[in-house]
Amino acid sequence: MSDKQYYIGIDLGTSSVKLMLIDGGGAIVRTESREYPLIFPNPGWSEQLPSDWWEGVKSGLKALTLDLDPSAIRGIGCGGQMHGLVILDEDDQVIRPAILWNDGRTFREVEYLNEVIGKKKLSELTANIAFAGFTAPKLLWVRNNEPENFAKIRKVMLPKDYINYKLTGVHCCDYSDASGMLLLDVEHRRWSDEMLAICGLDESVMPHLYESFAPVGKVMPNVAAELNLSPRTLVVAGAGDNAAAAVGTGVVGDGGCNISLGTSGTVFISSKQFGVDHNNALHSFAHADGGYHLMGCMLSAASCNKWLCEDILGTSDYAAEQKDITDGRLGENRVYFLPYLMGERSPINDTNARGVFAGMTMDSSRRDLVQAVLEGVAFAIRDSVEVAKSLGIKIEKSRICGGGAKSPLWRKIMANVLDIPLEIPKTEEGPGYGGAMLAMVGCGRFGSVAEAADALTEVSGTVEPDPETAEKYETKYRIFRQIYPAMKSLFEEMKED
Ligand code: XUL
Repeated sequence: MSDKQYYIGIDLGTSSVKLMLIDGGGAIVRTESREYPLIFPNPGWSEQLPSDWWEGVKSGLKALTLDLDPSAIRGIGCGGQMHGLVILDEDDQVIRPAILWNDGRTFREVEYLNEVIGKKKLSELTANIAFAGFTAPKLLWVRNNEPENFAKIRKVMLPKDYINYKLTGVHCCDYSDASGMLLLDVEHRRWSDEMLAICGLDESVMPHLYESFAPVGKVMPNVAAELNLSPRTLVVAGAGDNAAAAVGTGVVGDGGCNISLGTSGTVFISSKQFGVDHNNALHSFAHADGGYHLMGCMLSAASCNKWLCEDILGTSDYAAEQKDITDGRLGENRVYFLPYLMGERSPINDTNARGVFAGMTMDSSRRDLVQAVLEGVAFAIRDSVEVAKSLGIKIEKSRICGGGAKSPLWRKIMANVLDIPLEIPKTEEGPGYGGAMLAMVGCGRFGSVAEAADALTEVSGTVEPDPETAEKYETKYRIFRQIYPAMKSLFEEMKED
């Protein structure tokens, strides 16, 4: 075996897979990324092909390991987009395209679960209620709408579990990702028999459960040969991308907070103890460090900016669009934006909600609209932070990561809208780095996730709010908060059936 040691982290995202190779000291040696298409077969639906993920992972892994001694690659850990439904038949073939976390087709199933089974019961069984993106409503949707596909199901898995399955042949899932299926008894870390019965599933179709840092197997010899890995390379269970990102930014143990501005936007609050938001607006999930977390998730965050810039304004030069939004303009914009381009999850749980620009006048400019989008996302993140505050949770500062957090302007807007300091981790690629850290723990390089976080995560700078700007945003936020309630019944009327 080589003296050198390397670990691979995989961030299986919605627009692309990002892979990183790190050495035994945690330094990033190289990164690769591969894009794949997102399919919107109907308004509000969102699908991907698991074969596209696997091809992207394979091609990325080959490039990452090209000139390395395979025996030096000790472990692989994946952080993956959560909740997506992947179903396999008796020949291990994918039955239909994966239905993703931001797909809103299951509103009837969500209504059935929340109203007929009842929120109270769901919360007792799983610590959560039904949201359209969760996996159980998707299984019910397949049962109701594609019974021939439902009858073929022999394995249910989440997106990153498909990658682990292709690598190791082991049908596995970790507790953090499994929490988002609405099939797990989160507190006791086991499948809920009652939830499986409600969805018409036998436990034999469900993956084996592991802690995120636990090794599930080794890379199968034929796959190892193809990808320049060793058949001794260990694969750990990995985590949902938000839990992996929290590990990667050092948000483990009690009371840490991480905000991620990716395709989705999330507020992640870590805790050693299990706890539930009694209104279930925030999700109560297991963490990848062996503990728990509360999380608010908005469905369109950095994707709102991407949509405005690329699809509407026809540019991918985001920095150029933001350069005239100077400090003096912060808190002064009269244009508002509701960022509900895919409906919304936390905290409003409304698949009918839609994007809205409000407050425009003849002199409103392109710059004002760009600013409104960045601010609208920040206000919607604050909605989840407000729920946490109402539960008595004090968020005095947060880390921030994800593609959107690369914009200094957006970070400044976020810090002022939330009125807290935001710490910028040295390694911004949270989920990939977190995945590699989990692999290090699984391979014994560190004794625990907390130990790995202590040794490897660092803050490179802090964005402080400015009291005057924060006060202006306070007034703006109070107006923002009234736009959705005023529109809610109209969204219901606008919905296509
Ligand atoms: C979390 C969620 C999203 C996806 C994005 O509940 O649905 O953050 O994990 O990949």
